Amino acid sequence: KPTLLSEYRPPDYLIEAIWLDIVLHRTATRVRSKLTIRPNPAGRPAAPLRLDGDGLVPHAIILDGQALPLTAQVVTADSLTIADPPREPFTLEIETLTDPSANTQLMGLYRSGSAYCTQCEAEGFRRITYTLDRPDVLSVFTTRIEAAKEDAPVLLSNGNLVETGACEDPARHFAVWHDPFPKPCYLFALVGGALDCLSDTYVTGGGRRVALGIYVEPGKVPLAHYAMDALKRSMRWDEKAFGREYDLDIFNIVAVSDFNMGAMENKGLNVFNDKYILASPQTATDGDYAGIETVIAHEYFHNWTGNRITCRDWFQLCLKEGLTVYRDQEFSSDERSRPVKRIADVRTLRLRQFAEDAGPLAHNVRPDRYLEINNFYTATIYEKGAEIVRMLRHLIGMDAFNQGMTLYFDRFDGTAATIEDFLGCFAETSESDLSQFMRWYEQAGTPELKVVSTFEPQDASLTVEFSQSTAPTQGQPTKQPLVVPVAFGLVGVTGTPIALADVATEGLSAAELRSGVVELDGPTRRLTFRGLPERAIPSTLRGFSAPVKIATDLTPSDLTVLLAHDSDSFNRWQAAQTLATRVLVEGTRAAGSVQRPNDVDPGLLAAFAAVLDDPHADPAFVAQVMTLPTEADLARDIGQDVDPDAIHIARESLRGTLGSALHDRLLRLCQPPKDVLPYSPAAPDAGRRALRNTALWLLAGGDAGLGQDLAAAQFDAADNMTDRIAALGVLSLIPGETREIMLNRFQVMFADEPLVGDKWLSLQASIPEAGTLDRVERLMSHPTFSMATPNRIYALIGGFSANQTQFNRQDGRGYDFIAEIVMTLDDKNPQVAARLLNAFRLWRTMEPHRRTRAEAALERIAERPSLSADVRDIVTRSLGR
Ligand code: ARG
Ligand code: ZN
Repeated sequence: KPTLLSEYRPPDYLIEAIWLDIVLHRTATRVRSKLTIRPNPAGRPAAPLRLDGDGLVPHAIILDGQALPLTAQVVTADSLTIADPPREPFTLEIETLTDPSANTQLMGLYRSGSAYCTQCEAEGFRRITYTLDRPDVLSVFTTRIEAAKEDAPVLLSNGNLVETGACEDPARHFAVWHDPFPKPCYLFALVGGALDCLSDTYVTGGGRRVALGIYVEPGKVPLAHYAMDALKRSMRWDEKAFGREYDLDIFNIVAVSDFNMGAMENKGLNVFNDKYILASPQTATDGDYAGIETVIAHEYFHNWTGNRITCRDWFQLCLKEGLTVYRDQEFSSDERSRPVKRIADVRTLRLRQFAEDAGPLAHNVRPDRYLEINNFYTATIYEKGAEIVRMLRHLIGMDAFNQGMTLYFDRFDGTAATIEDFLGCFAETSESDLSQFMRWYEQAGTPELKVVSTFEPQDASLTVEFSQSTAPTQGQPTKQPLVVPVAFGLVGVTGTPIALADVATEGLSAAELRSGVVELDGPTRRLTFRGLPERAIPSTLRGFSAPVKIATDLTPSDLTVLLAHDSDSFNRWQAAQTLATRVLVEGTRAAGSVQRPNDVDPGLLAAFAAVLDDPHADPAFVAQVMTLPTEADLARDIGQDVDPDAIHIARESLRGTLGSALHDRLLRLCQPPKDVLPYSPAAPDAGRRALRNTALWLLAGGDAGLGQDLAAAQFDAADNMTDRIAALGVLSLIPGETREIMLNRFQVMFADEPLVGDKWLSLQASIPEAGTLDRVERLMSHPTFSMATPNRIYALIGGFSANQTQFNRQDGRGYDFIAEIVMTLDDKNPQVAARLLNAFRLWRTMEPHRRTRAEAALERIAERPSLSADVRDIVTRSLGR
């Protein structure tokens, strides 16, 4: 029974307030709730009241002070129904018991380490107590928590702390929290335990003093400083960029080590996967620091986009997630290098979202049906959702966009809104019709933008023809044209920029000429430029102005010109990627027949050399240029009859060729920096490390012996995790004794650091060798690993499933291995099991032999009699049913 968007109805009842009285106990936590309920004027009159509850048994139900007779209630596994509730406001008191220690799903109230914590989004609150568990029911929460002082000295919930004290039993204490902002129950949170706190204060632009706290396991406060710094910068930025101030006197964050996802934006009490809080130079990489900054910002920004304005129903999930990702991306762009951040975001989008769109799990950014909403916390909702917001800005311009955001905040504050509500604000401020734009939310799949250009030397004119098409996806056989903002410019063949305003144009509006953004809203569009000073090369989709695949007819020499001269750095990087991708796809074709297939075009080598030689280039940008497309990117681009081994051979071959051809330059880059400054995670330093480590990786491809020596030296000399793990990564690719010795040394060095253990696990799981599966199986019984902690599972098992050659082993053992784990894990943690199953999302694009093996593995899961809704949903969609 899927839930359908078309069947949305307002709730029949509203819950105005929820009082919770929770007595924490490791195996028997008592929850008493008191709900003030009233019929919703917008609902059906005299409807039965059906409350959600998952795995609960009500011990007593009291309606308006009177015990509710058993005949007046029906309790099922997932509900409590009162057939004939009062027609006017009434109160309902319910008592239930729950066992947090037995909660292995990590939804609802559970134990992480020595703490109690909760996760309620999307539908976890119903595992704590009976409720109307839907985001359009907003209630004011007051929460009393009681516990043994020793068991939980810290007691936290949403909002403001209104009372604390000792209980009659002096060994026990309590705290009362009150959140004045009505909120849906998915934003409820409670934490209890022995936690240390890093405290700080933040004063808002409007003068509110906010007490900030980051709670961590005892002893870990020194690891939370960067997170605190990121939080304060996020708060300041949201005031400056969007005029949004924080609205409570307290903002708390708790880091827990057992968490299914990244983090959760509960009102005034964010709960985080500790990997997005804890960092020291010795244990966290530059990437980890950047991830902390992003996730801290993301959860904080949800306070306005998600909490103050929430979603009417879960179909609107992208209303808060896409918009909040857009906001955190803008924040990081302002805090770091905007062009480099854009490149990194597009890499992620292609790797995760394009892949999702290319397989059977493709879905609309606003889905219209779901079996299990937890399976829709996807790259499509998050990353493509953010791209839609960015396109909107390109289309209507910065001013109308900013006015639209302000209107949205003003008009929908305190409500549960829809995508239509959101778009309506921008239609109003831009005075434009956004109904066709709405298709971006309603149509799955990645559109392809074709660009064909013809230069006529006689009259020095260039004609550029755009066309768009979207391949069918499951359930959507025909696609409509979308509104595609194409940021566009011209570069002369000698590298001189050509301003559109300086040439005669045909087919462009004045507004398009001004903004440089061409709007493609039909299947095709043709532009002509006359009187050009020289042959011009079109630079299309600058800054990646739309989430589309682009097919250009540019020649390698055109691309080389763009790589060297485009004023848009994204397109410079893109030109390098396109050049490399062409060589690699070609090489993949040849890989079956010859040993070293690609004679790399000398033009390409010269172009890469020129980028390395540019003294003005940002090292972080150069590192991005020198980083080859991943094997997964190539598999997705090839798209059918994929042979991952051939891709691997071709990519290793190009790495070797570049490593040899650019040997001297790379070697120079690999030298340790002369002035040894203390480590800083700031972008410029991180960029230098990225370039050095990319150079090391390339160099080792050309000369394994040299690479091994340099990497081993770097491993020993490193004062930070970025350089150390990069060195270990290079070593891990070189079979032999050294690798095992270094892996061992690393493990011993960081034996007490579970988050570093994750790096050790995932690095080994990604070794592209036939022995890796056996290694992974061995590691499953290593003390570093545990099947009870999502981070460990994502590192080892998730790491293996991302290993293109080994997950897709020809003998099918990789598929069988993941299938077994998914089935074992499903009984304990269905959400994590379903996430792992995403590894199969492109199984149909494999060559026939592997395809058959993958299908058989999926079938085996599908045949299992008892599957969670989470896994059943993914497996049936993956099989195309
Ligand atoms: N709203 C959270 C975030 O993106 C994600 C929580 C999802 N959790 C889940 N179990 N579905 O910030
Ligand atoms: Zn979010």
